[in-house]
Amino acid sequence: MKIIASNFKTNHTRKSTKEFIENVNTFISEEKIENDVYIFPTATALDSFSVNENLIIGTQNAFHVKNGSYTGEIGTEQLDEFGIKTILIGHSERRHIIGESQKNIALKYNYYKALGYKIIYCVGEPLEVKESGLTETLGYIWEQFDGVDLDYENLVIAYEPVWAIGTGVVASIEDISTIHRKIKKKITKPLLYGGSVKPANLEEILNIENVDGTLIGTSSWNVEDFKEMIQITKNKS
Ligand code: PGA
Repeated sequence: MKIIASNFKTNHTRKSTKEFIENVNTFISEEKIENDVYIFPTATALDSFSVNENLIIGTQNAFHVKNGSYTGEIGTEQLDEFGIKTILIGHSERRHIIGESQKNIALKYNYYKALGYKIIYCVGEPLEVKESGLTETLGYIWEQFDGVDLDYENLVIAYEPVWAIGTGVVASIEDISTIHRKIKKKITKPLLYGGSVKPANLEEILNIENVDGTLIGTSSWNVEDFKEMIQITKNKS
């Protein structure tokens, strides 16, 4: 069954997140959606939501500690308060805007792996790497797996080309299919695609071989669009 995930990034308030989650949860019950649906709200909007088992609330980020002196960060003590057991790691905005290094990403990965978290691990190349060819692109992507145990049972991977994130530029069917095939040859984990996915192109993307679902930013922030995309995902399973 295909997976659908919404990454809120720095959007929605605590109030609107709650409304969004309740709305989606009702939809999942009414439409008998059995696919895994993930929502990653901002840290300030995390809470103990009572939702269907297949509606999974995760954190977009957390530090690799239980607690301590790490100004601005949250740790597992804060996540445990809400029963959060799912985390996004390696998102391109954390790698390229916030400057998280592969070393730190691997530390975080191993910390959350040891705790049994479901990890959605993101990789993807910037435009200049894509333009230098497939070998360079794959080399770049493999480096993003440095220090990461690819046999971990609770691992889901998301391929998100940096040039397609939040830009409205979707990777071509051929691009997605080539990279997904190469990744799947090495790693037999569920593999999501992310980057300017929207209701109008979701079905086509889900039809590509080796695409096990999608990780969606911008177009998922509107609850009606997200529900439409959940329905499309259900019908593709
Ligand atoms: P986008 O973001 O859908 O806005 O391109 C995807 C992501 O960053 O997960």
